[in-house]
Amino acid sequence: MDITAIYPGTFDPITSGHLDLIVRASKLYPRVVVAIAANTGKSPLFTLEERVKLAAEVTKAYGHVEVIGFEGLLAECAKEQGAQVILRGLRTVADFEYECQMASLNRYLASDLETLFLMPTEQHTFISSSMIREIARYKGDVSRFVPENVEKQLRAKFNQE
Ligand code: PNS
Repeated sequence: MDITAIYPGTFDPITSGHLDLIVRASKLYPRVVVAIAANTGKSPLFTLEERVKLAAEVTKAYGHVEVIGFEGLLAECAKEQGAQVILRGLRTVADFEYECQMASLNRYLASDLETLFLMPTEQHTFISSSMIREIARYKGDVSRFVPENVEKQLRAKFNQE
């Protein structure tokens, strides 16, 4: 069975932790769709177009990984993409409650969609987009945590302020 896995998130911006998960998923599934939520409620630093562009650049070496932007419900987007699996990363126990809630809601909305969790490598356990944005905002070095194109765009973003 050709399973499509959808990996949703805000990706504001995509990090090396996200990429670690995408690479793991790309070894498990023949098609991986990275689905970037418009998520205007979170007031993202990068526009949806910028986030999609950065993620597409970072994943271009992986032929069966696609990057899309979406608005509205993830369950709907997954259905449109023909996905059977939602992938999420679990870093620490702190992620667990939120992830449980989201997986249950998505199961309620689309009972045939399974949520699967993958763990990033240890070195990526403490990376989050929000902390990276904060470090970059105060001109700290984020080169260990994000791909080069993302680092460049973060620098450009905060130098404009
Ligand atoms: O990277 P994030 O911010 O933790 O990702 C959260 C995301 C985008 C996966 C979640 O907010 C989402 O699925 N948004 C789309 C709206 C939706 O379907 N909400 C119901 C499930 S929580």
